[in-house]
Amino acid sequence: MTNIVLEENGFDGVRAAIARSAMVVTDSNVAALYGTLCDGAFVIDAGEKSKSPETLFSVIDGMYERGLCRNDTVVALGGGVTGDITGLAASLYMRGIRWISVPTTLVAMVDSGLGGKTAVDRRGVKNLVGTFHAPTDMVVSLEFIKTLPDREYIGGCGELIKTCLLTRNSYRLLRERFDALCARDASCLTEPVRACIAIKNTVVTDDFRESSVRKILNVGHTVGHALESVNGYKAGHGEYVLMGMMTECAMFKDMIDDDFYSAIIGMCRRFASPPKTSVKPVCELASKDKKNVDGQITVMLPVAAGDVLEVRVDRAEFSARYERAVAELKNER
Ligand SMILES: NC(=O)c1ccc[n+]([C@@H]2O[C@H](COP(=O)([O-])OP(=O)(O)OC[C@H]3O[C@@H](n4cnc5c(N)ncnc54)[C@H](O)[C@@H]3O)[C@@H](O)[C@H]2O)c1
Repeated sequence: MTNIVLEENGFDGVRAAIARSAMVVTDSNVAALYGTLCDGAFVIDAGEKSKSPETLFSVIDGMYERGLCRNDTVVALGGGVTGDITGLAASLYMRGIRWISVPTTLVAMVDSGLGGKTAVDRRGVKNLVGTFHAPTDMVVSLEFIKTLPDREYIGGCGELIKTCLLTRNSYRLLRERFDALCARDASCLTEPVRACIAIKNTVVTDDFRESSVRKILNVGHTVGHALESVNGYKAGHGEYVLMGMMTECAMFKDMIDDDFYSAIIGMCRRFASPPKTSVKPVCELASKDKKNVDGQITVMLPVAAGDVLEVRVDRAEFSARYERAVAELKNER
């Protein structure tokens, strides 16, 4: 179980976490923006390219060179990339040391910073190498959101929308706050972020290793991850989740409540456009997705507020549905 602290303003909790740690890992952008928090930190290059075995081992070397022992704690101060690498390094160094998650992007606050999925990418496949290693604490300061570029904020909204579809209460909250979210009204962000953290915490506590209920967090991710890899991570993770969510819903429109479908598509369209990527590479990568069973591609489909269906199709059906959905989304504009 991870202890969670959420502070609306300031960095008191963040500073306290850093004071308890033997090493802070951050990325070059965060280091430039938050110099005082990053004093003496181990800095990796910003961006998905850093989710590589090379960067992973550079972090592990950094732990070794700083003399970290098994009872030491490392802080991941950054977005999902920093968290995924630091968590993986912490799970491997001396067979596992503690880590504290300090998410600085909205994606990391509502999703990646909690749950202990750690990973690096390999051979063009997202998160091919990873472990489950939960942080002891997650310290969220909403203050970090102020410096997020619009694109990163939009990506965070993608994960936030995805998570809010998972319960009726959070869906209602999302609909109420949606315009304010679009306008980056910070005063309306606390409750949706809190709701997402609570949902994620419940889900990962019930199913840490993703053998059952945790799969619902993968809404939008089968197509999203494939698009992300095919397009060389040009856009942020959350933007691909938005594209993935709208595409997967359009692919299986026949299974979704009509009003719910229109609401999801409408919300996704406020932030993202339908994908332009052709079916072949998307299907190729989707067929390697970790959720697949017996060679069938798995899509986690939100069919109504609080209700997610696990849908399995073969490659031929996936391809036909993808092509039709992308064409329809383009024409519906
Ligand atoms: N482990 C999980 O459960 C999980 C869940 C979702 C996503 N992920 C992973 O997370 C990654 C995406 O996360 P992300 O979108 O946070 O990416 P990221 O870590 O690359 O951060 C996005 C960008 O924002 C910058 N940034 C970070 N904090 C900032 C701040 N406060 N102000 C200004 N700029 C800031 C970063 O330097 C980077 O350029 C992907 O690799 C994805 O696979 C993991």
